Amino acid sequence: MAAVADIGVIGGSGFYEFLTGAEEVRVDTPFGEPSETLLVGEAGGKRVAFLPRHGKDHRFPPHKIPYRANLWAMRALGVRRILAPSAVGSLTTSYGPGTLIVPDQLVDRTTSRVQTFYDEYAVHVPFADPYCPSGRGHAIGTARRAGWVPAGSGTLVVIDGPRFSTRAESQWYAAQGWTLIGMTAHPEAVLARELALCYTNLALVTDTDAGVEEGEGVTQAEVFEVFAKNITRLRELVAKIIEAFPDEREDDLCAHALDGIRLPIDLP
Ligand code: ADE
Repeated sequence: MAAVADIGVIGGSGFYEFLTGAEEVRVDTPFGEPSETLLVGEAGGKRVAFLPRHGKDHRFPPHKIPYRANLWAMRALGVRRILAPSAVGSLTTSYGPGTLIVPDQLVDRTTSRVQTFYDEYAVHVPFADPYCPSGRGHAIGTARRAGWVPAGSGTLVVIDGPRFSTRAESQWYAAQGWTLIGMTAHPEAVLARELALCYTNLALVTDTDAGVEEGEGVTQAEVFEVFAKNITRLRELVAKIIEAFPDEREDDLCAHALDGIRLPIDLP
C-alpha cells in the first residue's frame, strides 16, 4: 500500500474532529482487525491517521485492545511517528488534574498482554528509553510555546485494569517513585518500537490515584469528566505538535531499533 499518512494519532474518540477532509481507510493486518476503521485526513499541515484505541463506542477495555493490529495498521499506512494522548492518574500531589506530562519511562505491571510481533523467532529490541526522545522534545517545546506547563518527564506505571488500584497498591507504586498510572501505555509503546516507529505519549492527568488523594478513590465518571473538559485544548495541542514535527524522519533511536536484527516477518 502506498503511504497515505506520515503521523499517527492513537487516542480517545474526542479526537475525531481534529482531522480535516477525513476518509475512512480499512486496513487488514496479520494480527486481526484494528480497534476501528482508521480515519485519514489532515492536521497541522500533514497527513494524519487517527485510531480510537477503545473503538468508537468504547467497546474495548484496556486489556482487550487489539494493540498489535493497531500499530501494524499504522505502519501499513506509511506512518512513522505516533502521538498517543491518554488519560492517566497521578501518583503525586505535584501533578493535579489537567496537568500534561510527557513521560520518559514506563513500568509494566500488566500480566497477560501479548507484547511482541515476533513470536516465531527471538527478536530483542532496545527499550531502555521507551519513548522517542525527539518526539518528546517536540511535544514538550510545543506545549510550552502553547501556554501549557508540561512536566517534561515522568514514570508511567501500567496496570491491567479494568479496575482502578487499591489504596495499598497505589501507595506502593508512589513509594517506588513512579509518578503516573494508566492502563493502555503497555504494550503500545513496545509494539511501536518493534516496528521502528517513533512513539510519544501525551499523558493528561484526570485524577489523583487512591494512594495519594484523601477521598473515596478514583471513579470512571471523574476520569471521563476531566478528560472531556480538556479535550479541546489537548486536540489543539496535538495539531500543533504535528505541525512542529520536521517533514523528514529524525535519525533517532526509534529509527534504528531494528538495525542488525533479522526479522521473521516482512514489515509493511
Ligand atoms: N486512567 C486514568 N486515571 C487512572 C488511574 N487512577 N488508574 C489507572 N488508570 C487511569
